[in-house]
Amino acid sequence: MKNKMKKVLAILMAVMTMVLIGCTGVMAKSQSIKNGTYKVTVNFWKADQNKASMSNPSLNKTAKLRVNNGKMTMTIYTHPMTYGKQSAALQEMKVYNGKGWTQARVVSRDKKGNPSAFSFPVYKKTTYIPIQVNPHVKQMGNTYLDARLKISWDTLKKA
Ligand code: HEM
Repeated sequence: MKNKMKKVLAILMAVMTMVLIGCTGVMAKSQSIKNGTYKVTVNFWKADQNKASMSNPSLNKTAKLRVNNGKMTMTIYTHPMTYGKQSAALQEMKVYNGKGWTQARVVSRDKKGNPSAFSFPVYKKTTYIPIQVNPHVKQMGNTYLDARLKISWDTLKKA
């Protein structure tokens, strides 16, 4: 009798596990975006407050997103901005990848040599991705500063 109970319990557990795996599989699928190239609205957001970062004017609000079998790669477009009397552009950026930081690749530069586009992996479909930005500005310590990339997924459109 005990053995029979054990067997029934084991079968029940196996069925429950299968249902669970099935559910998460469907969820993962419905969350993933079809292969293709898309446009999406982005903003530089403060790391610790729900408002735009002072760096936001240096970012073009339309980014490009390439999706290939669930793997997402984003390209953002940047340009110099003025703050007070000084002009500066984003020079280096690191993007959170779920475990650590990935250095964004500079994929184009303007005539003065400032980066004008950065490319990097998007580790998941989330609204706020932590980033670290360094515009090489003396007043800011010429170092990486914490911010977030805000992705407005509701604006995603085929490019
Ligand atoms: C144009 C010349 C710039 C000057 C003089 C400047 C100066 C400053 C100063 C004084 C702060 C600390 C106080 C504050 O929040 O206002 C700050 C914060 C910050 N700056 Fe800049 N900055 C410049 C450009 C940039 C650029 C181009 C970026 C990146 C693309 C950037 C990214 C940040 C970030 C992430 C913070 C932390 C606070 C926040 O996100 O608003 N800055 N900057």
